[in-house]
Amino acid sequence: LARGVTEPDLAGRHVVVSAGGTREPLDPVRFLGNRSSGKQGYALARTAAARGARVTLVAANTALADPAGVDVVRVGTAVQLREAVLKAAADADAVVMAAAVADFRPAAYATGKIKKKDDQEPEPIVLVRNPDVLAEISADRARSGQVIVGFAAETDDVLANGRAKLARKGCDLLVVNEVGERKTFGAEENEAVVLGADGSETPVPHGPKEALAETVWDLVGARLG
Ligand code: CTP
Ligand code: CA
Repeated sequence: LARGVTEPDLAGRHVVVSAGGTREPLDPVRFLGNRSSGKQGYALARTAAARGARVTLVAANTALADPAGVDVVRVGTAVQLREAVLKAAADADAVVMAAAVADFRPAAYATGKIKKKDDQEPEPIVLVRNPDVLAEISADRARSGQVIVGFAAETDDVLANGRAKLARKGCDLLVVNEVGERKTFGAEENEAVVLGADGSETPVPHGPKEALAETVWDLVGARLG
């Protein structure tokens, strides 16, 4: 059966997808953020729902409409995203971490707006590490047989860096994007290689984010057994 006329191969499954980019506040009006649009994560959520899954979408600061038939949990920071993902992952068959999670957050939060002062240089911003959600859920699986997927954008030595990252994170699959022209944050299309912990390598040609999403669910489905 051709994909597109949707086959409900994920019926009875609960999948969790994280999407978007976390924002780490400095004060009530400022944050450290990133350029993730959330489009790839939303495409994953839509396609999983179309394939019959119950979907929890943990959405960090996206400007996209809630996909139909999906439970959307909105979060701001990496710490909030961690809580929402851990909660949803407790009974999930698969977790796909498409969100761009900030590696660091400001060590201090100013409850009032930070003001500039005449004749004074700005204070440096001190950062602390955020939790690594993907590594944590992979090391401490909520369910046996749970399939966990990470995403990585790399600029150099894409496959070697991807393999090393897959091993470090301990997930089952890692979708590696080469960041460059036509493959940037916010784009409608994508090109990637999906690396498997079993040594597999699945190239996904340049195309819509839905096509990459379908390949991810094909690979997840094969591992769910
Ligand atoms: N990730 C996460 N928690 C973090 C950072 C990243 O869960 N604090 C997840 C992302 O959602 C993604 C994967 O880990 O699925 C890889 O993110 P990436 O930033 O490429 O990995 P890092 O280990 O942070 O490596 P780098 O130093 O290259 O940023
Ligand atoms: Ca990172």
